[in-house]
Amino acid sequence: MSDYPAMQARFVADIGAAADLDALEALRVAALGKAGSVSALLKTLGGMSPEERQVQGPQIHALREAVTTAIADRKAALEGAALEARLAGERLDMTLPADAAPRGSVHPVSQVMDELAEIFADMGFAVATGPEIEDDWHNFTALNIPETHPARAMHDTFYFPTQMNDAAGRAMLLRTHTSPVQIRTMMSDEPPIRIIAPGRVYRSDSDATHTPMFHQVEGLVIDRGIHMGHLKWTLETFLKAYFERDDIVLRLRPSYFPFTEPSAEVDVGYRQEKGRRIVGGSGDDEGHAWMELLGSGMVNRRVIANCGLDPDEWQGFAFGVGVDRLAMLKYGMDDLRAFFDGDLRWLSHYGFGALSVPTLSGGISA
Ligand code: PHE
Repeated sequence: MSDYPAMQARFVADIGAAADLDALEALRVAALGKAGSVSALLKTLGGMSPEERQVQGPQIHALREAVTTAIADRKAALEGAALEARLAGERLDMTLPADAAPRGSVHPVSQVMDELAEIFADMGFAVATGPEIEDDWHNFTALNIPETHPARAMHDTFYFPTQMNDAAGRAMLLRTHTSPVQIRTMMSDEPPIRIIAPGRVYRSDSDATHTPMFHQVEGLVIDRGIHMGHLKWTLETFLKAYFERDDIVLRLRPSYFPFTEPSAEVDVGYRQEKGRRIVGGSGDDEGHAWMELLGSGMVNRRVIANCGLDPDEWQGFAFGVGVDRLAMLKYGMDDLRAFFDGDLRWLSHYGFGALSVPTLSGGISA
């Protein structure tokens, strides 16, 4: 008869000292595997007399129990230690100061959008957003552009296949302008409303000044007694703050958009200097010219009614402007396509520091 307590003590000591999971597995096979020593003891039970088995059986089973438990305990301890070690290795001190020479930069489009948000926040405008994948009701119909309207063809729209129409049977598309955010805001918010909506828009168009994806910022004001004077003041105040000069002169030219009535295209005076357009002065001044900058107008009564508001009570104005265009004018890039090439040299030349946040008090261009 073997000395089971001594065997158990030896096994438990070896298991407790196993340095890793491989060593532990080797000990398990040596004890409990097919040819293991504990398994061999279990097999001897069959050849014993009933009396002998009654004595030895419980002891051998107890030995197997003890070894099994010791292995499970050691396994849990080793796995826990491995996890601790991994966590310690991956530790990141979030309180350390930022890298003194950070890599990467803020894209001019992001920078200009931040500048616009800051300028308009000062005038009481909130920032609104809408989906880039729109339905044709929000992008066109609600904006007074019905199915058969020629303005739909003007927009070179990217449509999704008809199988992807939404539950209401509306065709899905990539929004062609930020104007659908006007609709979404008028339907979800109570007037008075003052928002800007910056974001990506898409048109099937591509050359030096057009990319299939570009950026707009929409402006919308809905309140009582709003008129075109409010529109002109708002645009003038915005452009003076954006270009950081007081001599910005605007010219409102009659135009047509289905969603505004009356509509005006807004031109700014500029002059050419060293191959660059410098905004400022009247376009009629010596050496100056006019450049079209944005579309605007009084929100069409029908659009206000489409959003469930009473156009006799609520009026407003809206405008839309190309963000990329604004960036090019202020920061002097001449090819729009370079904006979206992801060329690191371009980004390090035209990009902005991650920590130079635009503020009205600190200088809007950071
Ligand atoms: N959505 C128009 C465009 O993309 C711009 C615009 C917006 C015009 C708001 C008037 C009012 O061309």
